[in-house]
Amino acid sequence: MMNDTLQQLSVTLRRTVDDSYPIFIGDGLFSRLGSLLRDRGLPKRVALVSDTSVFALHGPALRDALAAAGFAVAVEAVFPAGEEHKTRETKAWIEDRLLETKLGRDTWVAALGGGVVGDMAGYTAATYLRGIPFVQFPTTLLAMVDSSVGGKTGLDTPHGKNLIGAFWQPRAVIADLRMLATLPPVQVQAGLAEVIKHAVIADPEFFDYLQAVWPQVARLDPAVMGKIVHRNCAIKAGVVEKDERESDLRKILNFGHTLGHALETAADYRLLHGTCVAIGMRYEAELAAALGLLAASDVKRIQALLDQAGFPAVDDVEVSAAQLVELTKSDKKARGGHVEYVFPKQIGAMAQGERGYGIRVGDEQALPLLERIRGR
Ligand SMILES: NC(=O)c1ccc[n+]([C@@H]2O[C@H](COP(=O)([O-])OP(=O)(O)OC[C@H]3O[C@@H](n4cnc5c(N)ncnc54)[C@H](O)[C@@H]3O)[C@@H](O)[C@H]2O)c1
Ligand SMILES: [Zn+2]
Repeated sequence: MMNDTLQQLSVTLRRTVDDSYPIFIGDGLFSRLGSLLRDRGLPKRVALVSDTSVFALHGPALRDALAAAGFAVAVEAVFPAGEEHKTRETKAWIEDRLLETKLGRDTWVAALGGGVVGDMAGYTAATYLRGIPFVQFPTTLLAMVDSSVGGKTGLDTPHGKNLIGAFWQPRAVIADLRMLATLPPVQVQAGLAEVIKHAVIADPEFFDYLQAVWPQVARLDPAVMGKIVHRNCAIKAGVVEKDERESDLRKILNFGHTLGHALETAADYRLLHGTCVAIGMRYEAELAAALGLLAASDVKRIQALLDQAGFPAVDDVEVSAAQLVELTKSDKKARGGHVEYVFPKQIGAMAQGERGYGIRVGDEQALPLLERIRGR
């Protein structure tokens, strides 16, 4: 006989988590790993994940440093460098390397590389045996000032970038400025786009500082770079602490990214993310002014700093306003049917609309404005 009484149990999981972690920034940190990683609750065994280019330059040094700090590198999983390898296939390959080595939950993952390695290694750590610890060793400027902080991990699919992933916070971030010495100049420039973004969205004094120290930035002066990385991590961490899951405030980190992502797609990923974000900021600052949110004098200062960093002008990229508007649709899908932008209201502060920081701009409104900005 069927029993139609409803039985119910409750699974109570009201947890308080402390995912806090330190970010260490300095020159030559590998020699101090023992003290930096002490008390981080890391097991003895490590899986070192990197890409071929980074590993060739810095892998052996990290391997030796980890050994000297008392850790045992059980496996090295090194995949081909490049965004095109930020895939499910690469993740499965890394996982198989760890599984073949019979690594259990008493393992942590060391992610040595730029944003691609950090996102891939972090996401692998998030799901391997339902989650093991990881530590970020960022080696690009972009990774030091942006991707290594905040706990977003993931990979790309043919349907779009970063669509599969998890929030998984690292146990520590070790930004050794020495890594920047081998970084190709175009990659340094790409990282500077996010640096300028952080200044515009949150810190007017930092914006002035960047203008003043530009010659030292250009030659990667270690003291200046240390300050820049420190300030950037502080800005990003400050945002993430208040809104880890991007319910509102975290959206401000997307300045320059709505049109930046459209440009990345338009250029079929031949342009670096940072370059596209820089041009995206040029457009979005002008758009903010056209919408009456930002003073023309501030737009000028933003454009001037982007010029100083050597970024292309909006007209240097062959893409029509109509194409751009069309390509913001994937962002639109991601945000519930509306194209959302975030706009500065002045250098160092972001505008808020009725729905918070995300401001909707319809295609019919965006199109003529973008046409005007391009035609200038
Ligand atoms: N998780 C986040 O919050 C977040 C934020 C921003 C960007 N990202 C992601 O980050 C990725 C871009 O990161 P990236 O710009 O660091 O790219 P990347 O990791 O591909 O590195 C760029 C290139 O530089 C090489 N390289 C790295 N460090 C080097 C060094 N020290 N010396 C010489 N060569 C070096 C790499 O092998 C690669 O060829 C994208 O996939 C993006 O989606 C994630
Ligand atoms: Zn970015």
